[in-house]
Amino acid sequence: MVRLVSLIIFSLATILLATKSSLCHGKTTLNLVDHGITFSIFPLRLKSGLGGHYIPEISCSSWRLAVEAHNIIDWKTIPQECEGYVGNYVLGKQYREDSKAVTEEAYKYAQSLNLVGDGKDIWVFDIDETSLSNLPYYAQHGFGVEPFNETSFSEWADHGIAPPLPESRTLYKNLLNLGIKVVFLTGRSESLRDSTLKNLKDAGYNTFEALILRNSTEYNGKTGVTYKSSERKKLEEKGYRIVGNIGDQWSDILGTNTGNRTFKLPDPMYYIS
Ligand SMILES: *[C@@H]1O[C@H](CO)[C@@H](O)[C@H](O)[C@H]1NC(C)=O
Ligand SMILES: *[C@@H]1O[C@H](CO)[C@@H](O)[C@H](O)[C@H]1NC(C)=O
Ligand SMILES: *[C@@H]1O[C@H](CO)[C@@H](O)[C@H](O)[C@H]1NC(C)=O
Ligand SMILES: [Mg+2]
Repeated sequence: MVRLVSLIIFSLATILLATKSSLCHGKTTLNLVDHGITFSIFPLRLKSGLGGHYIPEISCSSWRLAVEAHNIIDWKTIPQECEGYVGNYVLGKQYREDSKAVTEEAYKYAQSLNLVGDGKDIWVFDIDETSLSNLPYYAQHGFGVEPFNETSFSEWADHGIAPPLPESRTLYKNLLNLGIKVVFLTGRSESLRDSTLKNLKDAGYNTFEALILRNSTEYNGKTGVTYKSSERKKLEEKGYRIVGNIGDQWSDILGTNTGNRTFKLPDPMYYIS
């Protein structure tokens, strides 16, 4: 009976909407009359391309979602027309809010753990676009429109002046307070060890169990997934338990020995396989 009544109400509403929408033919606003009052259901001009117009923000937003969901993979540069969109995103509030949604969830999870408390519980942190932010560099290089230039990026990174990603640093401090140790595992090469150490300390990451950088001899020609899986395996062989793992790249959290839970921070600027 209740279902029948619901069905009738739904049908009436549908007919009403259809009638009113046809009356508003040619407009994007849809009015609904209820108890003699007219409501605009869509008071804003929709940016959904209803009229068949191409709207860059919508396409770039879809592109970013597909990138974050790992549906678009192995891309070399961001679409040219998305430079403004990506720049606005990473310099704006949304990037910070999206990062916070990730790190707060990570902290909730960490609080729920029953830790052994023998000092072997660790959390793996990636560095670039996770612990540290290279936005000052990418802002000068089209936010990912330019193909990645290892030489020029390394020159910049070697200055050791990257600011922290504030949400990650908060997570880092909270994890330390829970008794979880932190290991930094980065795709940066061994040649950047000193500047990276200095940068981490200046950015407020003073306490950590290890800083693992990429040995370019051992991992020559290997993907990030292979390198990071192998280094995490070595950690587990040393008796550590990886309770959590956070990074901005899928290659930080795919592969083997990924840890009990993984957390993916946003990064619409570049892709590392
Ligand atoms: C990469 O950066 C270096 C150092 O800034 C520069 O000399 C070189 O021309 C760049 N390579 C490309 C392909 O742009
Ligand atoms: C890098 O790996 C090579 C080959 O496995 C090894 O001989 C070398 O000692 C390693 N370098 C560092 C800095 O760990
Ligand atoms: C992590 O996963 C392992 C293997 O599934 C499990 O034995 C262990 O209890 C988990 N640790 C935590 C802290 O959840
Ligand atoms: Mg990274």
